[in-house]
Amino acid sequence: MVKQNVLKTLYENLENCVSGEDIASKLNISKEELLDQIESLKEDGYVIESSDGDMYCLRKTPNLLLPYELKRNLETEYMGHEVHYFKKVDSTNEVAKKLAEEGSPEGTLVVAESQSRGRGRRGKKWVSPEGGVWMSMILRPEIPPMNAPQLTLVTGVAVAETLKSECGLDVGIKWPNDILIGDKKVCGILTEVSATVDMVDYVVVGIGIDLNVDVDLFPPELRSGATSLKMELEREIQSVKLVQKFLINFEKTYGDFKEGKFPEILKEWRILSTTIGNYVEVHKRGRTLKGEAVGINKDGVLIVELDDGTLKKVLSGECIHVKK
Ligand code: BTN
Repeated sequence: MVKQNVLKTLYENLENCVSGEDIASKLNISKEELLDQIESLKEDGYVIESSDGDMYCLRKTPNLLLPYELKRNLETEYMGHEVHYFKKVDSTNEVAKKLAEEGSPEGTLVVAESQSRGRGRRGKKWVSPEGGVWMSMILRPEIPPMNAPQLTLVTGVAVAETLKSECGLDVGIKWPNDILIGDKKVCGILTEVSATVDMVDYVVVGIGIDLNVDVDLFPPELRSGATSLKMELEREIQSVKLVQKFLINFEKTYGDFKEGKFPEILKEWRILSTTIGNYVEVHKRGRTLKGEAVGINKDGVLIVELDDGTLKKVLSGECIHVKK
């Protein structure tokens, strides 16, 4: 808290800098404590110039999802009001699940600069180096467990709309949860649910965005199918601003979902979908189903028309767009 208050004071004095004496007396801390906090902020990546003996100026903020930065000027009612930040963690979904078990409120966010055991769907490993956005949200919707997978589509719409509006990119959604630029994946979503028979206890939605990462350094089998925002836009992206915009968009879309407006969200999803109209292969438990993805029904289930004209409902699986 003291550290955050030192930072806040530095932000309040960006123009004219501020003396150590003023900060210390304002926050009622000793000069030694102030020096420790300044040192700690520098270790976080803040560039703080100290000149004229006792004057401090904040010159540069690190491009990191630090809680103070995320919460500063965050225009949400509850999303992201509690943030747990890690330099490195096994998986933000794992941390979020533990926090949810311990009672953390809806809207809690877990973010990490990198993950050592990032998890993707269907038991796959998720490569999570520094530079990406690796985060998980705790949600507590009052819905039956069978509706929980709809949250993946709700999140997909919020991510896609954020990337469109903030980065001006032509993004699409591949069923059920891949956010694509062209035919390359830039973001994945992993939804995990804890529920009793008839009610959801909590949902953890994990989101991985390849932001300022170099996918050429990914394992060879992932390289050709992946891209990053930095590679598409040929510049570094400010992660805090992007995540703040996402949280605003998500809170709105999720609010609609809780009010029973999933059909409206699905309309958005259909517009963003690159799967509908495509010939697809869906792999599930060693079986492959091939046909044209003709739609998505009111529950978010994919409808595939097989070559013989039969319609099949696909609840889950790995979907690949193929050329016929
Ligand atoms: C997928 O497309 O397979 C889903 C990928 C989800 C990755 C994110 S990164 C943050 C969160 N923590 C994890 O371990 N996984 C999710």
